[in-house]
Amino acid sequence: MFCVVKKQFVVIRLIIFWLCCFSTAFGQNIIPYPTTIKPAYCSVDLQRASISIDADSLLGPHLVAILKEEILQPYLQNMHADDKIVVKLVHDPQYKNIEAYQLRVVKGLIEIRGENKGIFYGIQSLRQLVAEGDGQVACQTIIDQPAFGWRGMHLDVSRHFFPVSFIKKYIDILALHKMNTFHWHLTDDQGWRIEIKQYPMLTSIGSERSETMVGKNFDPFLGDGVPHGGYYTQKQIRDVVAYAQARNITIVPEIEMPGHALAALSAYPQFSCTGGPFTPLTKWGISDDVFCSHDSTFHFLFNVLDEVLDLFPSTYIHIGGDEMPKTRWKNCHKCQGVMKHYGLKNEAELQSYFIGRIDSFLTAKGRQTIGWDEILEGGLAPNAAVMSWRGEQGGIAAAKQQHKVVMCPGSHCYFDHYQGDRKTEPLAIGGYTTVKKVFHYQPIPAQLNRSSSKYILGAQGNVWTEYIATPEHLMYMALPRLCALSEVLWTGEERPAYENFVNRLIRHFELLDEMKINYSRALYDINSTTFSSSSGLMARLNNDVNGFDIRYTTNGSAPTFQSSKYNQPILITENLQLQAALFKDDKKVGNIYSQNFSLSKSTAKKLSISPLPDERYNIGGEQTLVDGIIGNQPWTAKEWLGWRTDNIKVKMDLGEKTKTQKIKIAFLDAKESWIHSPETVKLIAIGKGSSPDQKQQQLFEVHNQFYELQLDEEIQSLELEIIPMKAVPANYPGSGEMPWTFCSEIIIE
Ligand code: ACM
Ligand code: ZN
Repeated sequence: MFCVVKKQFVVIRLIIFWLCCFSTAFGQNIIPYPTTIKPAYCSVDLQRASISIDADSLLGPHLVAILKEEILQPYLQNMHADDKIVVKLVHDPQYKNIEAYQLRVVKGLIEIRGENKGIFYGIQSLRQLVAEGDGQVACQTIIDQPAFGWRGMHLDVSRHFFPVSFIKKYIDILALHKMNTFHWHLTDDQGWRIEIKQYPMLTSIGSERSETMVGKNFDPFLGDGVPHGGYYTQKQIRDVVAYAQARNITIVPEIEMPGHALAALSAYPQFSCTGGPFTPLTKWGISDDVFCSHDSTFHFLFNVLDEVLDLFPSTYIHIGGDEMPKTRWKNCHKCQGVMKHYGLKNEAELQSYFIGRIDSFLTAKGRQTIGWDEILEGGLAPNAAVMSWRGEQGGIAAAKQQHKVVMCPGSHCYFDHYQGDRKTEPLAIGGYTTVKKVFHYQPIPAQLNRSSSKYILGAQGNVWTEYIATPEHLMYMALPRLCALSEVLWTGEERPAYENFVNRLIRHFELLDEMKINYSRALYDINSTTFSSSSGLMARLNNDVNGFDIRYTTNGSAPTFQSSKYNQPILITENLQLQAALFKDDKKVGNIYSQNFSLSKSTAKKLSISPLPDERYNIGGEQTLVDGIIGNQPWTAKEWLGWRTDNIKVKMDLGEKTKTQKIKIAFLDAKESWIHSPETVKLIAIGKGSSPDQKQQQLFEVHNQFYELQLDEEIQSLELEIIPMKAVPANYPGSGEMPWTFCSEIIIE
């Protein structure tokens, strides 16, 4: 009898072990995923044991404090329980990588070995294991180390100010995900946020702006009438630096120069080219007024940097260098004098001279300059590292010149971009960077050979706060993209599959809930694509989360768990509203997807376009123009095709002779993004067969969003020509540059 029971028990244990090893198992939902996990089939229960901590005296006392206060505190009451668990921290200098650690959980013992930094990360892994099992920790051995040495997150506190209490929370979130660098963007046109004792007006004047633009009301400007300000005292900064240090995080401060300096110049206009007066910007964008290149500016900046260096022990000091208009320098006799004196050929070389002087100053102080990729223009300063944000090209060029690089291309690392459907997301600056896209980022570009790729230190996520005013919204933008980036940077090329990450992330959300940290659930959004079939227009719905159902309606009602379950693409045969959502059993998770389809005689018909749209704005391909979806504001790249080119020709074949009355074409007008309606649209040919062979010269008329043409004809084919404006008109962003043309739909009635 005993034998049978024991046998059954062993079988059950084996099943548990099997589940442990081959699914995203209980007790292993760690983000970022460890290098190796060896599961064992037992667990320790912190709820029911008496716990003691045994820490090596060689270790920093902060480690025991964090372990005890932040993780074990709820379990320390059972002093008299029979079960004993020792949590042991062992200083072990055997690891080549000082961030490496080993975490071993066996009956009665949780042991973390490594150096201070490694042990800190072992504690973070333990934190996640304890939270996941509610005090039950699965037995296992984890041996772990990061792939990249710069695992960063940036935060812009100029556009909106965030208090110290929040900065510490942000640091906690970085630490939880084993990120080790916090890039603190402290100064910009809209506010100076760091106390500098020698220049008190930087904060008394430069930290306060009179109001802030509402939404995207650039023109005409609409302000909220509410003053916005705030800064960190040096005492607060020292406290934050120490807090970060205890959590393995280096703070890299950024003091922007020579551009993005209007807040500083509002306080000290003598360091500008014109002398001012100025006030901190109340809207977003770039100021033409920048630091002048004369000696007194350097004297000022060296004094500011001396105080910054005293506060921040980091090797790297970020000096900005991005988005630097040269208009003032071109018209300034002081700047032109400097150029003449040093034989500088143009303002790009003057910028290089400017950064070079700062670089020499920092090098002499034993620090290293880092700046945005514009610092490559006019020649890179000898010791400068580059932060590549305008794509990867700057980073590639710098690595080839043997300069250190941190990657943060807008395409994958700008967490101020939209991360889900714009119809349900809060207003953002633009873009579309999903958690999946971040997860698939490779910081080392394929173009770099082995010897150049060692200059890539790592990557970071950037959170610019033009459209982010509250801590809750900021966490929402950062998470869970930060989780995905942490996995990219910790695991390197040996990353688990995305589906595995998603399974862990869903468990990880429970920990964020427990910590009362806001995050985006856009992961649960339904994605849709359309395609033309021989039966007509088809809509395909999908989502990457396993184990959930998509349910949908086509009658305008919100989907419930009783709505049709999506199994295959849906044929759209009439005007309708398609709504869908993700369900776990009877519970809806995430947002409702909703899309109106308006069919016409051109829907799902064949067309060809020349030239093809820009590859960034060709998401749905040419059939986007006949998918029954008329793009709207706020616009999403998915609903539009975009060109930055001269004339665009479109040919369409309706498949059979069709009686037409009107052609309507939907164009986008989003002037803040350089997107303008075309100058002219013409019908240039029609045909009774599949080829448009009868020449026409008919101009479309403009009716709000649409360009329209009456056409009482029976035709099978037609050809149109779209003629964009030659240049963005004066007084609009990008004036004088080639505009973008965005088209969403060609409707034949
Ligand atoms: C930047 O986004 N201007 C670095
Ligand atoms: Zn000047």
